[in-house]
Amino acid sequence: MDGQTHLHITSWVLALILLGLTVWFDRLGKPKIGKVFHMILRLDYLLILYSGGSLIAVYFANAGGAMLGEAIIKSLAGLWVIFAVEMIAVRAKKRVSAKSAWIQFFIAIIIALVLGFGRLPMGILPLN
Ligand code: HEM
Repeated sequence: MDGQTHLHITSWVLALILLGLTVWFDRLGKPKIGKVFHMILRLDYLLILYSGGSLIAVYFANAGGAMLGEAIIKSLAGLWVIFAVEMIAVRAKKRVSAKSAWIQFFIAIIIALVLGFGRLPMGILPLN
C-alpha cells in the first residue's frame, strides 16, 4: 500500500469518527464541543481531497477507458460522501432532521467503498 492510499484511508476513517463526535455532542446539548469537532472535521476534508486528488491523478496519468471511468465515479462518490457528511453535521447543529442527508451518505459511501476496495487496483486489496 502506498503512502497516498494510507493517508486516504486514515483521513476518511478520521472523518467518520469526527462526524460521530460532532453529532453526538450536539445531541448531548453541548454545541460548543460539537463545533470544535466540526471544525476539525472540515480541516480533515482537505486531507481527504488532497489524498483522493493525488490518487485520481495517477489514473489520469496512467489509466484509460473503463478503469479511468470507474476511478472518476469513485471520486464523485467520495465528493458526495463529503457533501452528505457536511449536511449531516450542519443539520445536527440546527437540530433539524438529517434523514435525507443520511440516506445520501449511505448510498454514496457504499459506492465509494465498493469501487475503492472492491474494484479499483491501487489499494490494499489488489485484484491483480
Ligand atoms: C469520505 C469520502 C471517501 C471515502 C469513504 C473513500 C473511500 C475510499 C476507499 C475505500 C478506497 C480504496 C482504498 C484501498 O483499497 O486501499 C479509496 C480509494 C480512492 N479514492 Fe476515495 N474515498 C473518499 C473520498 C474521495 C475523494 C473526495 C476522491 C477524489 C477527489 C477520492 C478518490 C479516490 C481514488 C482515485 C482512489 C483510488 C482507487 C484505488 O485504486 O484503490 N476519494 N477511497
